[in-house]
Amino acid sequence: MKTAVYPGSFDPITNGHLDVIERALKIFDKLVIAVLENGNKECLFSSKERADMIKGATKGMRVEVEPFSGLLVDYLRKKKTSLVVRGLRAVSDFDYEFQMAIANKKLEPETETIFILTDKEYFYLSSTTVKELARNKANVSGFVPKNVELALRKRFS
Ligand code: PNS
Repeated sequence: MKTAVYPGSFDPITNGHLDVIERALKIFDKLVIAVLENGNKECLFSSKERADMIKGATKGMRVEVEPFSGLLVDYLRKKKTSLVVRGLRAVSDFDYEFQMAIANKKLEPETETIFILTDKEYFYLSSTTVKELARNKANVSGFVPKNVELALRKRFS
């Protein structure tokens, strides 16, 4: 049974994240979606709200959704895996992702980060863009799952 952890802020989950999840499940038996709480970033949604939105959008998939805090390598140990999934979009993601992968490998040499290229449709899609659009009352239906669209509408009403 191959389990990998897909960590992130997911503030909120987008169709780009969902694309990565679906494709990662072609490689792994199970995916643990680890939602960062108490990170450096100021989030629009609480970690529980973010986790609940992911649960709503991934019903029936082989995933477990859980908030996590502290170091990712410690969380990996707790979940008894050394496999990390991250999505890669435009080239601009590379620097940040490379730094994180190297840092995690330094902390725990067993860690392997598997990068999944996001479908070109989602190449420039980010949670930040989605929030900006929703804040300005634009239609985000093509960018996020339905439950997230509703949550954004409610938050900015
Ligand atoms: O969606 P994000 O914000 O790009 O995800 C970043 C995340 C959660 C993967 C990263 O911030 C993280 O792993 N944080 C936990 C702290 C940690 O382990 N830091 C060391 C590696 S840089």
